[in-house]
Amino acid sequence: MVIKTDIVILGSGAGALQTARILAEKYQVHIITKSDVTNGSSYKAQGGIAAVTGKEDGTSLHMQDTLHAGVFHHDEENVKKLVEEGRNTIQQLIGQHFPVDRAPDGSISLGLEGAHSKPRIIHSGGDATGRHLVNYLLDSLPKRVKIHDHELAYQLLINENGECIGVKTKSREGNATYLASYVIVATGGAGALYEYTSNCPDSFGDGIALAYLAGAEITDMEFVQFHPSLIYVDGKTHGLVSEAVRGAGGLFADEEGNRIMKGVHPLEDLAPRHITAYEIYKHRAKGHEVYIDISKIKDFEDKFPTITSICKEHGIDLSKKRIPIAPGSHFLMGGIISDAYGRTSIPRLFAVGETACTGVHGANRLASNSLLECVTFGKLMAEHLLQYGSSQKNFTIREAGHKSSKLPPLMPPCLLQKEMFAKAGIVREKEGLAELLKKLPTYEDVSNLDLDALDRETIEQLFMHITASLIVHGALLREESRGSHIRKDFPSTVDEWQHKWIIFKQGKHDV
Ligand code: SIN
Repeated sequence: MVIKTDIVILGSGAGALQTARILAEKYQVHIITKSDVTNGSSYKAQGGIAAVTGKEDGTSLHMQDTLHAGVFHHDEENVKKLVEEGRNTIQQLIGQHFPVDRAPDGSISLGLEGAHSKPRIIHSGGDATGRHLVNYLLDSLPKRVKIHDHELAYQLLINENGECIGVKTKSREGNATYLASYVIVATGGAGALYEYTSNCPDSFGDGIALAYLAGAEITDMEFVQFHPSLIYVDGKTHGLVSEAVRGAGGLFADEEGNRIMKGVHPLEDLAPRHITAYEIYKHRAKGHEVYIDISKIKDFEDKFPTITSICKEHGIDLSKKRIPIAPGSHFLMGGIISDAYGRTSIPRLFAVGETACTGVHGANRLASNSLLECVTFGKLMAEHLLQYGSSQKNFTIREAGHKSSKLPPLMPPCLLQKEMFAKAGIVREKEGLAELLKKLPTYEDVSNLDLDALDRETIEQLFMHITASLIVHGALLREESRGSHIRKDFPSTVDEWQHKWIIFKQGKHDV
């Protein structure tokens, strides 16, 4: 089946939906998602949206907090755009009746989260902000936007001029080809490459693998954020205890109730995530259990209904006033190199949200800046395309040359996830990274594979390996520790590395 249209968006989170609803004013839009709209990091997001609304706050403070949390490895122009345009975008959404939580006097309730110098986190439905935002965006989506769920995009199509002209997909109904003037990748992150994650179990970084295979530039893959507090029961993690819980008075403690973050960082329990996650990792490695003590939080169940229900589902007795936790992968700062309008290194291929790397998160994202990024850069991208978009005329696909059916050796997903956690996880070192990289396919192994012939499961497994190889290779090359990238063998943060981006393109890298 061949479908010809204006815009194809891969993914269905906040970035995809925000972009689609604006683009639909002028264009025919198809959203293709490998699962469904309720299965993604946006939908699961508890924390909220960071944006300046209070009189005591300012965008320069929000920018400073973002830079500090990300250890100054940012594109500062884009950070400025994020906080300034972000403030306007959020005001616009509230003006368009996005329901935010309010205090009894009608003012917006603002929460505090790690590394923020002011309370500036907007919530909707307590700890269900992502769900409310996705539902709000879905409800405001014009009917003419068509959503294709349970359909996996497996190959971007490039024309003889090097422009992206569409995508090939697989679903239960068979294979399809979409030809479009623009393709937007909004497939989210890659948390499920790790054994413990807050992400959905199929967040494999597909969009990054797709774009890399098509020749796009990818960067900052070594920066994987580990969230300090995933609910941990019987050796497994089950969703988040939002940082908002610590903003409301929750404290990290060991099994005897001793506080873990006291004396470690001036912000203690609200230190940036890479610092809290590393501290908890070290405690757990010494055989301790770690909890969030919620005894100081009044009306916990009313304030945090989503966390309460996950705890109940997993047999955690909240009357004991503590929740067992462990760190897990949460957010990928790296991705497809894009500007604030979503433009990538391939003409007519755009990216937005966690899949994109615009340099706004540096080496460690500030809490609740991710939904802000989705709605803000989604809006900028859509407005750019409304103003400057043009129809594609040349759908002649670039000759691919010989196609190979020889798959490289692939690890079973659960083994890869364990290897990634052990060797490219919270703490890395050369030996483990080099060993793991050898087990992962090279660009040459995968660049001319005949993907048409592979089944969906194998393609996802292949994408996992491709994205993992970029993370591991980036982590091996960056010989310093910065933000979420902690090298045991290079423990210092080194000035020369501050603004160095490790860029991958077609099997080569450039630093
Ligand atoms: C959280 O609620 O702790 C996560 C929010 C975020 O990822 O910024």
